[in-house]
Parts: sequence; C-alpha cells; structure tokens
Amino acid sequence: MNKKYLEKKYLQEIEFLNDGIKNSKNPYHFFTLSTNCNNNPESRTVVLRGFELNPFTIYFNTDLRSNKIVEINENPIVSILFYDNLRKTQLRLKANAIVHSKNEIARLKWENTALQSRKCYMAPFKPSSKLEKWHPNIPLEFLDKDPDKESSESGYDNFCVIELVCQNLEILELHHSGHIRFRKKFNTGKSYFIAT
Ligand SMILES: Cc1cc2nc3c(=O)[nH]c(=O)nc-3n(C[C@H](O)[C@H](O)[C@H](O)COP(=O)(O)O)c2cc1C
Repeated sequence: MNKKYLEKKYLQEIEFLNDGIKNSKNPYHFFTLSTNCNNNPESRTVVLRGFELNPFTIYFNTDLRSNKIVEINENPIVSILFYDNLRKTQLRLKANAIVHSKNEIARLKWENTALQSRKCYMAPFKPSSKLEKWHPNIPLEFLDKDPDKESSESGYDNFCVIELVCQNLEILELHHSGHIRFRKKFNTGKSYFIAT
C-alpha cells in the first residue's frame, strides 16, 4: 500500500460523486448531513444535487423553512457522510455550509428542478410543524399530478440550495486483509494515512 494508491482511490471517489448527482442507483446519490442543534447532533438523509472539485464543494436542495436552515444559520460547520456498501467505502467530510435563497445559484438550480420535485416546496405547512392530523404536505390538487410550470413558481420562495464547501475528507475502505484509511486536507492538498 502506497501513496499512489491513495491518489487513485481519491480520484475514483470523485468519479462516484460526479455520477451520483444524476444516477439514483449510485449509493452516493444520497448522503447523511449532520448539523449542530444547540450542542446536540442532528442527522438526516439528503440527495446529492451537485459537486465541484476546486474547491471541493457539494450541493443539495432543501426547504428554507426547515430546521436544518435554523441550525446552519446558528453554526455553519457540518459533517457529511457517504457509504457505498458494494465498494465498502465510507467518505466523511467536514464542511462550511452556505445557504442560497432567491439568488443566481438558487434560480439556476430551480430552473433545473423537475415539476414533480418542485411541488415539495409548495408545502402548505412549515417542515417539522405539528399537525393536528396527517397531511401529505403538498397541495392536495397535486397529489396525483404535477403542477404546471406557472403554479409551481410559488414553491420558489421556500426553495434553497445549500453549498457545502469542504475542509477535509476522510476515506475508509474496508478490507479483510487490513482496512485502508486516509485523510486529505484541502487547504494544503496533503493526504496521509490514518490508523483504522
Ligand atoms: C432518501 C431521502 C432523501 C431525502 N432528500 C432530501 C433532500 O434532498 N433535501 C431535504 O431537505 N430533505 C430530504 N429528505 C428529508 C430529510 O431527511 C429530512 O427528513 C427533512 O429534510 C427535514 O430535516 P430537518 O428537520 O432536519 O431540517 C430526504 C429523506 C430521504 C429518506
């Protein structure tokens, strides 16, 4: 095992991240995002919507009214976790989160958001609000159909894009003959093995 392998593995993970944006069969299509809520950890699954390499940045979409936005505004340092069970590979990243609402980045992603997904942002109730009785939290008229483009625009106010600018990355690859674990710091570009 040498540093050459480590660079090869890093490049392979980048390929999987790029593919994971559109390919829902790729396990990297989903990741776990953890935030800090009054010194308590909060984790949830989100969908990978974008990836850029320099700087190493991950994007997802969410509802501006959701709890995670309150938490990010309080403390923008978040933890990101991907796992590919077939390749026995875990990616763990630390990032700084930036909320984009009603700006150029949000508008561009919104334009590329399918009508079926847009209707989630037309939710009448604020996410996590207590319901007196069950409600799907999408406008009832669009339960079985997608909104047309014009009516879907009302969701834009609740839509936001979260940009996660990563500070460091840790890769763990499980092997019967000895796990491989290394860290890459993006500020120096340096990678080094760490004990499993
Ligand atoms: C497979 C899956 C994908 C999800 N994708 C997203 C997503 O991309 N964005 C999002 O805001 N919530 C997504 N959710 C819902 C979140 O996990 C979470 O329940 C919701 O965002 C509320 O989180 P919060 O109260 O911590 O803000 C997804 C849930 C699942 C199970």
